[in-house]
Amino acid sequence: MASGIELPASFRKLSAVERRRLLVERFGLEPQELDATAGSSELLELAQIMVESAVGVMPVPLGLAHGFLIDDVVRSVPLAVEEPSVVAAAGYAAAIIRRGGGFFTSATDPIMTCQIALTNCRSDAEQQITAREQQICRRIDPLLAGMQRRGGGFRGMDVTRLARTGLVVVRIHIDVRDAMGANILNSVAENCAEFICNELGCNRLMAILTNAAERRIARAEFALPAARLGRGGLSGSEIAERIVLATRFADEDGQRAVTHNKGIMNGITSLALATANDTRGIEAAVHAWAARDGSYRSLTHYELNAGVLTGSIEAPLPFGVVGGAVGFHPASRFALKLLGNPDAVTLSRIAAAVGLAQNFAALHALVGEGIQSGHMRLHSTRLAWSAGARGAEVAGVAERIARTRCFNAEGAAEALRSIRSGQ
Ligand code: MEV
Repeated sequence: MASGIELPASFRKLSAVERRRLLVERFGLEPQELDATAGSSELLELAQIMVESAVGVMPVPLGLAHGFLIDDVVRSVPLAVEEPSVVAAAGYAAAIIRRGGGFFTSATDPIMTCQIALTNCRSDAEQQITAREQQICRRIDPLLAGMQRRGGGFRGMDVTRLARTGLVVVRIHIDVRDAMGANILNSVAENCAEFICNELGCNRLMAILTNAAERRIARAEFALPAARLGRGGLSGSEIAERIVLATRFADEDGQRAVTHNKGIMNGITSLALATANDTRGIEAAVHAWAARDGSYRSLTHYELNAGVLTGSIEAPLPFGVVGGAVGFHPASRFALKLLGNPDAVTLSRIAAAVGLAQNFAALHALVGEGIQSGHMRLHSTRLAWSAGARGAEVAGVAERIARTRCFNAEGAAEALRSIRSGQ
């Protein structure tokens, strides 16, 4: 007999309110524990539409990293994230980089690809399928009518046979304009699979988009006089040289590259979450790109020439501004409005700039005095809260912890006691 708390098989059929009531009974929840995930009644209703067995909403902090200058436009970038340093780091980097003229970005058209994997294919299947490209194109035309009106649509196809499995894989490329594209790509893939199987008498293993998004690339770069970068007792040019070396470290050493790129994703994933984009899809694309030559490497690149540090990033960033939860969830609409309601390509360019900013901020601190003093300062407000500080006490306790360098629960409790006893 398995241990643990069993929920009824009908759980998913209950309303969110009924499910929450049941959780109180079965898990012995306190009212304040329930409140933490309550949201508004509208958000709870929305949660039920969005996922099965919804029991609440997860209120992740939404911060605004403002002062980004991207392609001569000032942007405030909403970031949804639980990690204290992310918004602070983005704002810090944005301010320094703005003084050097800001970020310059570019992107490819938003082309996504689906894959149809076929079994039991005859030996000339590749040629037979390729010869039917016009028929395939005509067949998916009605599915793409909306996209074509907005300038997107079919952008070609190719067919390969995989060496080990013998599977024939058809890849269809579509410009999805403002969508992330998963729904339309999957519809196209299934529709074409049916046509090809009927024509050639082969079988479909599966038909689905690839999240690799290798044709949907965004880039960002900046240039800064190195002299402005001095910190932690090091001159600006020493810091710049160390940033260049830090990136070569990430290029040469996979373990460092994972952390280096995680820092970049602190910004990109937070922007994706704030706009209700598919964070997992974007992360899968980015990490696969980082390993595209067989070794997992840095997504960013830095150079120091004639006293000027240039930083750049390039990655697939399949952000959408319509479809899925984007533009449907009120929090996503709020975030997009703060961004000036960009189109999908512009949003991906903003994401590239934010990722580069995060990386620059992390490296600037890491090769200078290290990140821990800044992180612990931010961590101290959490310790204060956990110790029971509220309102103005939080800043007071945090300040005392930072001063005494007692970054632990005892230090916070002691600081709170002192404040409350007026010492
Ligand atoms: C922490 O969330 C991110 C960093 O570890 C990134 C890095 O090491 O480059 C600071």
